[in-house]
Amino acid sequence: MQFFIDTASLDEIKEAQDLGVLDGVTTNPSLMAKEGISGEQECMDHYKKICDIVDDKVSAEVIATDYDNMIKEGEKYAAIDDKIVVKIPIIKEGVKAIKYLTSKGIRVNTTLIFSAGQAIIAAKAGATYISPFIGRLDDISRDGVDLIAQIVNIYDNYDFETEVLAASIRHPMHIVQCAEVGADVCTCPLSSILALINHPLTDNGLAKFLADYNKTLEVESA
Ligand code: E4P
Repeated sequence: MQFFIDTASLDEIKEAQDLGVLDGVTTNPSLMAKEGISGEQECMDHYKKICDIVDDKVSAEVIATDYDNMIKEGEKYAAIDDKIVVKIPIIKEGVKAIKYLTSKGIRVNTTLIFSAGQAIIAAKAGATYISPFIGRLDDISRDGVDLIAQIVNIYDNYDFETEVLAASIRHPMHIVQCAEVGADVCTCPLSSILALINHPLTDNGLAKFLADYNKTLEVESA
């Protein structure tokens, strides 16, 4: 399973990259706004800064919602760096844009996926990734992880190469559940990635090991 970090914060991206387990980054207009980034040029400069930190796969989401401007924006983002993956929402114009951009060799992450039907059409259009938002489904009392399992099963049936990128992750158990049902990628907040490391028995066990070690030093010096 690949790990992407779901943020536009350069500090968080650096922290995850330093951990040595990061495979990519996803952003969206809300995450960019949270960092105070506005306007096309500022966005492009910020994407470049992200690309300079990580090894590959930086999702940059288009703002346009019509085909012509989606592909124009997508091509502009793709020209920033080879690491860019253009993020396109699953709307009718978006499907055409996915088809066009992928035919030009530009990787596409299809966003705002909430149904298996949307996942099928994005794969047919040639998307590199689809992003089902599992937390937002859970928020309305649907089972987001079930959707991931359903899409993984459908893609397996037809050998679709599109990768299932579980998004809108709210907590570390979402990551474990997505791994169990075969998601290719999870994009997570830094807090969820770091929370995977923690276990109270690890903390207690380590404290005991260190205390026992220190006791031997006391005996030696007595
Ligand atoms: C990922 O690509 C999405 O931008 C993100 O995971 C959405 O998460 P949210 O539902 O927490 O906003």
